[in-house]
Amino acid sequence: MADRHTAGITSMVANKKLLVLPGDGIGPEVMGEVRRVIDWMDRRRAVTFEVSEGLVGGAAYDAGGTALSDETMADAAASDAVLLGAVGGPKWADVPRVHRPEAGLLRLRKEMDLFANLRPALVFDALVDASTLKPEVVRGLDILILRELTGGVYFGQPRGVETLPDGSERGVDTQVYTTGEVERILRVGFDLAKKRRNKVTSVEKSNVMETGAMWRKIATRVAAEEFPDVEFDHMLADNCAMQLIRDPHQFDVIVTDNLFGDMLSDEAAMMTGSLGMLPSASLSAMDATSGRRHALYEPVHGSAPDIAGQNKANPLATLLSFGMMLRYSFDMAEDADLVEAAVQDVLGSGLRTADIAASGDEVVSTTRMGEALVEALDRRAA
Ligand code: IPM
Ligand code: MG
Repeated sequence: MADRHTAGITSMVANKKLLVLPGDGIGPEVMGEVRRVIDWMDRRRAVTFEVSEGLVGGAAYDAGGTALSDETMADAAASDAVLLGAVGGPKWADVPRVHRPEAGLLRLRKEMDLFANLRPALVFDALVDASTLKPEVVRGLDILILRELTGGVYFGQPRGVETLPDGSERGVDTQVYTTGEVERILRVGFDLAKKRRNKVTSVEKSNVMETGAMWRKIATRVAAEEFPDVEFDHMLADNCAMQLIRDPHQFDVIVTDNLFGDMLSDEAAMMTGSLGMLPSASLSAMDATSGRRHALYEPVHGSAPDIAGQNKANPLATLLSFGMMLRYSFDMAEDADLVEAAVQDVLGSGLRTADIAASGDEVVSTTRMGEALVEALDRRAA
């Protein structure tokens, strides 16, 4: 193994080009622990990662005046997968919107056409009591929110704020969807449901919004014509927010637009006990000729500036995002299972970062969690 990097050997190994973008706040800390696991995989499993690192968000703005440089954008597009930490923080609150940390993330999503955002919400047995909901409501929960990520009000034109003659302002954002955009996200949802519990709930506001009524009409057609064997229903977004808390087990795959998906996925994430546990994958369509797709993996949580630099953050959401990368980009289901099993092991042994600790639990640091994960992997692979 040791000599696989020597000339001639490298070309025989299927290298996986991986771009790591730690970002801001707790991003670099949690990514540091995930890097340990990536290194472990590199040493111990039949895989070689060619890892490079870049700047995104406020870190990129501080270094170069923009939240994502053209070079980093090009690196991302040329990578097999991108792993991102988190972006944003109060430090950049007054930076113009086009340079805000979030703009870097939105550019990555848009330019790589990452329209399908998978946000699983899974309640680990060991964490049932960390949820603010009753254990009987959340125990065993395993749902998937599929969020449309490159359309809707996040990108619709026109947008902006104009000053009116009387000196007051008028702000505009625009919700836009095309038939093709709605069809393709629904198809991903149905395909995913077939590998799960075979149920899709399409969520919009068809009672109020034009795009919502159009979405519902398209969903009805796609379901009937292309996926007659998948259980299917519609739900209004406000009702969905309520039903998620009342009885989340009624859902399997929820397919929804960019803005509703943003909100419902935060809600679903919190039901699992902590935003610090939830991974996500953002995928483009498969290129028919190359068989490749762009992919970006990131935790659902943000940069948590209040605890940044304190070695307190939970690295598990970013680690589980790496696990999703193994599964969806690299077809390495066994290795993905191993990562998930290591997470179960550390939780099972009682280790908790502050965000998932109940009173009486021993609270561990970010780095201790990372060490424990590597120990768990060692034990599993022994
Ligand atoms: C998310 C985040 C982002 C979003 C922000 C950081 C732009 O909340 O990924 O859910 O709104 O999409
Ligand atoms: Mg969000």
